[in-house]
Amino acid sequence: MKPIQVGLLGIGTVGSGTFNVLKRNQEEITRRAGRSIQITMVADLDVERARSVVGEGVQVVNDARAVIANPEIDIVIELIGGYGIAKALVLEAIAAGKHVVTANKALLAVHGSEIFAAAQAKGVMVAFEAAVAGGIPIIKALREGLTANRIEWVAGIINGTTNFILSEMRDKGLDFDVVLKEAQRLGYAEADPTFDIEGVDAAHKATIMSAIAYGIPVQFDKAYVEGITKLGAADIKYAEQLGYRIKLLGITKRVEAGVELRVHPTLVPAKRLIANVEGAMNAVVVQGDAVGTTLYYGKGAGSEPTASAVIADLVDITRLHTADPLNRVPHLAFQPSALSDLPVLPMSEVVTSYYLRLRVADKAGVLAQVTGILAGLGISIDAVLQREADEVAGEGATQTDLIILTHDTREGTMNDALVQMQALPTVLAPIARIRKEELA
Ligand code: HSE
Repeated sequence: MKPIQVGLLGIGTVGSGTFNVLKRNQEEITRRAGRSIQITMVADLDVERARSVVGEGVQVVNDARAVIANPEIDIVIELIGGYGIAKALVLEAIAAGKHVVTANKALLAVHGSEIFAAAQAKGVMVAFEAAVAGGIPIIKALREGLTANRIEWVAGIINGTTNFILSEMRDKGLDFDVVLKEAQRLGYAEADPTFDIEGVDAAHKATIMSAIAYGIPVQFDKAYVEGITKLGAADIKYAEQLGYRIKLLGITKRVEAGVELRVHPTLVPAKRLIANVEGAMNAVVVQGDAVGTTLYYGKGAGSEPTASAVIADLVDITRLHTADPLNRVPHLAFQPSALSDLPVLPMSEVVTSYYLRLRVADKAGVLAQVTGILAGLGISIDAVLQREADEVAGEGATQTDLIILTHDTREGTMNDALVQMQALPTVLAPIARIRKEELA
């Protein structure tokens, strides 16, 4: 049978990995796909570098539109990234009747609905396993492996850069800024790490997972996004003393009123497997009503791990290429006509438990004032930790840290409590608030 012909837009780290793995494992991949899959055309602005990766026998151009216009190309892989030109090219490829494979989480989280609708109308597939957690086949698991389940929640470490930074902060007791610089020096963090450290990259991925888990449209604009830049080494240390680790989690939960979709630093019990995922590794926990808890772990980035996901999509498309579009797996796991309008809840409606750290004057009645405010708002305390002032703030200190863990509380109520506590003259610095999830 004639090989499936693939055009690659952008041959950087992931593109090179895709080319190399496809070539190296050609024989096994063909046995699985039923047809040979060949990258026959590559577009990259740096033609020289692209040529040095693919050698002779592959057409290299500097114009992505030449790939889309080539009638021999069956599948276009988009590895350019971002929302700009990548969006135009993906839509043009779909309009030209090409199937598309993309690793572009930003594009799908923001413009996914438009892209999937265009693909649906044209009868082509858009595959995006590489967009979430790199090499971990979490899209496949959520969309197909767990299809019997009512998914209850998904919680994941889905950004390797921030997990590396948090691991280093905990291991070495260092502050965020110091570790970020080290992560940049080692190549774990980009020169402009904003999307990673501010939680945006994780929120793109969580948005995609929420759509597949619950059959709702992708709604990045409704996600609550908080990164790790304000996290102090002290909080990591106190969390540990209380039996928790702090991880940047992407969380999506189905509750009675709708769907929670949020990314923020989170205290997780140290005994949970996910709390022990260290360095740049990724992991996702999925809770389904039938299967219970499942955990997926692996590399969330990198040349060949991400290529592994890209090629899995190429194989899927090759197998289903000639199938009636109605019999293919829907992009968002649910039939497009059966998507739900379950609302994504505002953060103020989210219910979770909290870790609070208050720098307070070490004098009589302070604890009573603070707990009085919590009691007044119906917030139940789960644990309190207070160290001697000398130990916290040095010999002879007159202030100390008061750490409080609460039971489940509505975020809006906690916001009110924070305003009241912050106004106390005995609270001497901005209160640290970190959400806590038992993931039981
Ligand atoms: N920048 C991402 C991370 C990898 O640090 O995990 C690509 O999504």
